[in-house]
Amino acid sequence: MNQPLSREELKLKREKYVVPSVKQLYNDPPHLVQGKGQYLLDEKGRQYLDMFAGIVTVSVGHCHPKVTERTIEQLKKLQHTSTSFMTQPMVDLAEKLAQITPGNLNKSYITNSGTEANEAAILLARVASKRFEVIALQHSYHGFSHLANALTGNHNWRPEVPSAAGIVFAANAYCYRCPFKKTPDSCNLECAQDVERVIQTQTGGSAACMIAEPIQGVGGTITPPDEYFGQVKKILDKYGVKFIADEVQTGFGRTGKHMFGITNWNVQPDMITMAKGLGNGAPIGAMITTDEIAKAGQKQSINTFGGNPVSSATALAVIETIEEEKLMENAKVVGDYLLEGLRDMAKSYPIMADVRGKGLMLGVEIAAEDKTPLAQETARIVEHAKDNGVIIGKGGLFGNVIRIKPPLSITKENVDTCLQAVRQGVETVSKVLSR
Ligand SMILES: Cc1ncc(COP(=O)(O)O)c(C=O)c1O
Repeated sequence: MNQPLSREELKLKREKYVVPSVKQLYNDPPHLVQGKGQYLLDEKGRQYLDMFAGIVTVSVGHCHPKVTERTIEQLKKLQHTSTSFMTQPMVDLAEKLAQITPGNLNKSYITNSGTEANEAAILLARVASKRFEVIALQHSYHGFSHLANALTGNHNWRPEVPSAAGIVFAANAYCYRCPFKKTPDSCNLECAQDVERVIQTQTGGSAACMIAEPIQGVGGTITPPDEYFGQVKKILDKYGVKFIADEVQTGFGRTGKHMFGITNWNVQPDMITMAKGLGNGAPIGAMITTDEIAKAGQKQSINTFGGNPVSSATALAVIETIEEEKLMENAKVVGDYLLEGLRDMAKSYPIMADVRGKGLMLGVEIAAEDKTPLAQETARIVEHAKDNGVIIGKGGLFGNVIRIKPPLSITKENVDTCLQAVRQGVETVSKVLSR
């Protein structure tokens, strides 16, 4: 096998040949060459504990043997025919998705990514409702096509070009920085009520759909209060607006307890979009909806690679692994342990201003006492953790949220290692700040 390039050589080559919008997390990025379970190896053979799972994607662990075997098996048998021809893996996957999604969601459209799944959902919601306008949430992220980008309520991810038409934004349920300057105990869920205000003042009173992440991922693990989605759904039902839960990050057991994040709020969506954890790194996404809504989409559609046998067989193996290895349950137990550890640590470090999330979808907002976001310090904590062998992510509108979203297979021992790395980083930046 060829020797891998040194990280310096690879960095230069990447800068020369890859568009500059494809950015990387670190100032001094390792060249990652191998993955196994929750661990990654760089070109020098150094091991990292991966507490970010790519970006919230490696659900069952890197190169899981069962998944890899099933991928290779299918790859050797049949890679492609397109959906114009009958093959079984896509249909088996669609059947499985109907079984594991909540309520009466039955009909799937398999794609290659979360962006495509969201495109498909919005298009179908518009066709089925014969309405055009779409409600999204501020601080959201929904992908990188023209439409998905226009649904994204975060300027960091939106090039300054004319946006897709017909999209309006409601305030998000961001309790730490409440858009209405209220506190959770007496806010009367002003953020949920904003959805009705938006319908009344920014649409013709008849939006096609609302799309929302149960927990905003790129937005910084923003986790709405328990009653939020129930209230929102009531408003949407009143106006006949369909609800799309974007579960690209929250799906497949990540939030613990439930296969899909929205079930934590006991709300039934009209459509769910998914990707990331479904493929454990294989390029696949899906939109699932009811028979009734699906019926509206009778025009021909083709997605050359969507539903291809290899990605579909891989995704099926991933879901089976989540079930067999009880990874959803693990996400709850180990996630609660991590949440408790972070909350405990926050008592000693005031810059850990808000610790939030569910299961293994956790975030820590790094801010000064007056809530000024500490973005540079966050970047330093993340870089520091990497230098200590632990990969964590970062996000949020202000770039000041540490994101911890590892493979669902991690252990409590891994959590202890992660906590130690976070503590060292937080301690270092806290000392610098106090000088
Ligand atoms: C919530 C959410 N939706 C959609 C997407 C887009 O998915 P993809 O990058 O697979 O197109 C992402 C990606 O980060 C996401 O986090």
